[in-house]
Amino acid sequence: MRVSVDPMSVEPDPSESAPMHGSAAAGPDGRGSEPLRTPAGGSARAGAGGSGRAASEALRPHAEDDFAAELAALAAQDDRPRPARWRLSPWAVATYLLGGTLPDGTVISPKYVGPRRIVEVAVTTLATDRALLLLGVPGTAKTWVSEHLAAAISGDSTLLVQGTAGTPEEAIRYGWNYAQLLAHGPSQDALVPSPVMRAMSEGTVARVEELTRIPADVQDTLITILSEKTLPIPELGQEVLAVRGFNLIATANDRDRGVNELSSALRRRFNTVVLPLPESAEAEVDIVSRRVEQIGRSLDLPALPDGIDELRRVVTVFRELRSGVTVDGRTKLKSPSGTLSTAEAISVVTGGLALAAHFGDGVLRASDVAAGILGAVVRDPAADRVVWQEYLEAVVRERDGWTDLYRACREVSA
Ligand SMILES: Nc1ncnc2c1ncn2[C@@H]1O[C@H](COP(=O)(O)OP(=O)(O)OP(=O)(O)O)[C@@H](O)[C@H]1O
Ligand SMILES: [Mg+2]
Repeated sequence: MRVSVDPMSVEPDPSESAPMHGSAAAGPDGRGSEPLRTPAGGSARAGAGGSGRAASEALRPHAEDDFAAELAALAAQDDRPRPARWRLSPWAVATYLLGGTLPDGTVISPKYVGPRRIVEVAVTTLATDRALLLLGVPGTAKTWVSEHLAAAISGDSTLLVQGTAGTPEEAIRYGWNYAQLLAHGPSQDALVPSPVMRAMSEGTVARVEELTRIPADVQDTLITILSEKTLPIPELGQEVLAVRGFNLIATANDRDRGVNELSSALRRRFNTVVLPLPESAEAEVDIVSRRVEQIGRSLDLPALPDGIDELRRVVTVFRELRSGVTVDGRTKLKSPSGTLSTAEAISVVTGGLALAAHFGDGVLRASDVAAGILGAVVRDPAADRVVWQEYLEAVVRERDGWTDLYRACREVSA
């Protein structure tokens, strides 16, 4: 039997007008205007951002902090209808992800480089009652897109559950503060809401990473949440009703298929959007250079322009080995066991830039990326080494203008 919460047991948050049945709406401790925010969540971040120091010094700021100016510009000029509790209209969210120029000339940088339709479908899904599942091979920006979607829609990308083989039900539902529980028994004070519960009561977007790594019975916890939009708390005789604006983005990796298959009951609650690998070498070079610039800036690395040719070669090597054929289509190649994703190309180039900055003259050269390429390609020391040697001798050695790369790779492969 479901019992509605007695609303007088906690102080309702005056800023929150949503119809709530749950204690979590007002927070487990009933204090403050944002009682549900824990140190891992928004209030800690807001505080850090407010002081101006911690946020700017963060090694990797949250998307909503990093792109706060773009989000504010979009919100100011966005006159299209917004779904309940959305910070932006679906159109503005898509523009935030894909980039564009606003009427006042503000340039919105592209976050995701790929088919526009994919982003439009993903954003639209989140405005419906179905949840969004981002599927794809490793390194296709699933996590990245999910973070930016949550940032643009809810202004908060931190309501995150990381899926692993050990993810317990509490991570999706709620847990207990055991000191409180033992001292006073089950009460709102003792309840520790999960990110999903917080998103339900705040009407925001929650994220579940690597959904298919989570054991099947724990995954099924999501069924009630996604179909009934409620999270019962039997211990308290209460439930948290999801308010408008709540939705969920899950990511899952193609390579994990078969580890913990999504149950069909759960799959029916999701719209699946498959993120593809970059379709052309140019697109991939564009993605890698953008991200390397961004990451490089936060690490005070030299700017990329002088190294763009080197970056192009890294992308070419990765694409050829991944697809099993050279760009001219003439030579068939064996593919190594690793994924050689765009994400890995980004880290090889970033690592190369760091080598060039600290031990070279600041210009990215073949010798700076060779070790990184080798590390990414040779994951399995036996099988991959053979694949790599064949590629090195048959392709890299023979290609015009690649002698320096061939030498540098030989040196580190020895
Ligand atoms: N199409 C793309 N547009 C923009 N960035 C991309 C694209 N593809 C990859 N990236 C970049 O690759 C990096 C890694 O992406 P991300 O971690 O989101 O991949 P993932 O799909 O979640 O991988 P995994 O399955 O390993 O978790 C990010 O920095 C992202 O910017
Ligand atoms: Mg990921």
